[in-house]
Amino acid sequence: MSDSASGSFLSPKVEARECAEKGGSGTFAVEPIKEGELVAVWGGRVVGVETAMALSPFMRRYVVQVEDRQYLAPLETIEPADCINHCCRANCGLKGQITLVAMRDIDAGEEICFDYATTDSSRFLEFECACGHPSCRGRVQADDWKLASVQQHNRGHFAPYLQRRIDEVANEMWAASRMRRRPRRAALSLVQKPPVELP
Ligand SMILES: C[S@@+](CC[C@H](N)C(=O)[O-])C[C@H]1O[C@@H](n2cnc3c(N)ncnc32)[C@H](O)[C@@H]1O
Ligand SMILES: [Zn+2]
Repeated sequence: MSDSASGSFLSPKVEARECAEKGGSGTFAVEPIKEGELVAVWGGRVVGVETAMALSPFMRRYVVQVEDRQYLAPLETIEPADCINHCCRANCGLKGQITLVAMRDIDAGEEICFDYATTDSSRFLEFECACGHPSCRGRVQADDWKLASVQQHNRGHFAPYLQRRIDEVANEMWAASRMRRRPRRAALSLVQKPPVELP
């Protein structure tokens, strides 16, 4: 285990390397990683939206949204665990608010990445994506968590506050579909009523 000044953990099977097209650096597997294996746990300080937005543009890049209006910001120094890039078809995903696990087996040499749509839903965290995956969304946007393809690929790996939103939308759709079905059911039960028994 690698302990650090901000209390972050990064698997010893992962190291930070230069990655110019994604802002400078990224993290890469140096040994195979099994599905479900712990990859990183982020440390830092929890700040409100005003503090997060007041950070320098450089420091703001390392902010991870953990609740509707709460963000995890790094302490003074940026660490390898802070340098995990976004991919529109990620190989890692969240477990809880600050823990990242492998969503599939990862080969040595592969870039470690997660879908930022599973954590961030704030406009000030948007950016142009250079993940290069055939299903790249082009721009990483605040509302991406709503996309069916994003929800399918990252099922079970959303920040709890986003999972609550997803569940709310699903419940509302289910309730609305029940309301639409109800009159038809009533009509059907009239048609299917058993014949009245005559004395
Ligand atoms: C937490 S930092 C990741 C480390 C960052 N690449 C660096 O060099 O410091 C997040 C920022 O990296 C950049 N980034 C991450 N994933 C990216 C991607 N797929 N395409 C382009 N830029 C990316 C964006 O600027 C984003 O705000
Ligand atoms: Zn992309």
